[in-house]
Amino acid sequence: MITIAISKGRMQDDAIALLAEAGVRLSAAALASRKLALEDESGNYRFIFVKPADVPVYVEHGIADCGIVGRDVLLESEADVLLPLDLGIARCSMVVAAIDPKVITRAFGMLRIATKYSRIAGSHFGTRGIPVEIISLSGSVELAPALGLADAIVDLVETGRTLQENGLKVVEIITESTGRLVVNRASYQLKAGEIGRLTDAIEQVVQGASAK
Ligand code: PRP
Repeated sequence: MITIAISKGRMQDDAIALLAEAGVRLSAAALASRKLALEDESGNYRFIFVKPADVPVYVEHGIADCGIVGRDVLLESEADVLLPLDLGIARCSMVVAAIDPKVITRAFGMLRIATKYSRIAGSHFGTRGIPVEIISLSGSVELAPALGLADAIVDLVETGRTLQENGLKVVEIITESTGRLVVNRASYQLKAGEIGRLTDAIEQVVQGASAK
């Protein structure tokens, strides 16, 4: 059996739909369930649903043979996983945002950056030689500037609504992110046949979608 770790949340529905197109389907009963580990209709695949940041952890440790997770999460985790194959789903940008974009150039002393992506934010400002204090949060990062916790944030933007409705403007795009398929190093060798068939089927769906 092949175990696939899926990021719960924004990417979950697109990942399930893409896998179904690739022939790995969950039954209606499974889709309606709140179980966090489910078998597909064939009994050849097991889905586990975990927090995005935990997908690379499960895959790196071989509990999951593969996983579907955003590039943003992979950059932040630096986990030792193989591929990753761009699935073209859950497209979004990683940005620096602030109430007043000029705060970045006009800050006195250390710039305070609130983020769920400490490593990406630290490296982004580090390469620019801008001294920052990283304030690590677990979510709802857009609140931090308005409440005085931070001067700016580093976060994901999909539609831009969350930024806009919390009075923030994009200062700079750091990078783009999409959903990726990653594979455990040992599974890639030991289950080469099954993993190869799955990745080929997924690649065909992705190529079909991009040709439309
Ligand atoms: C993400 C991101 C932004 C929001 C952006 O949050 O961190 O808060 O979505 O989406 P938008 O541009 O379409 O408004 P997520 O839903 O993953 O929750 P969290 O950051 O609070 O964990």
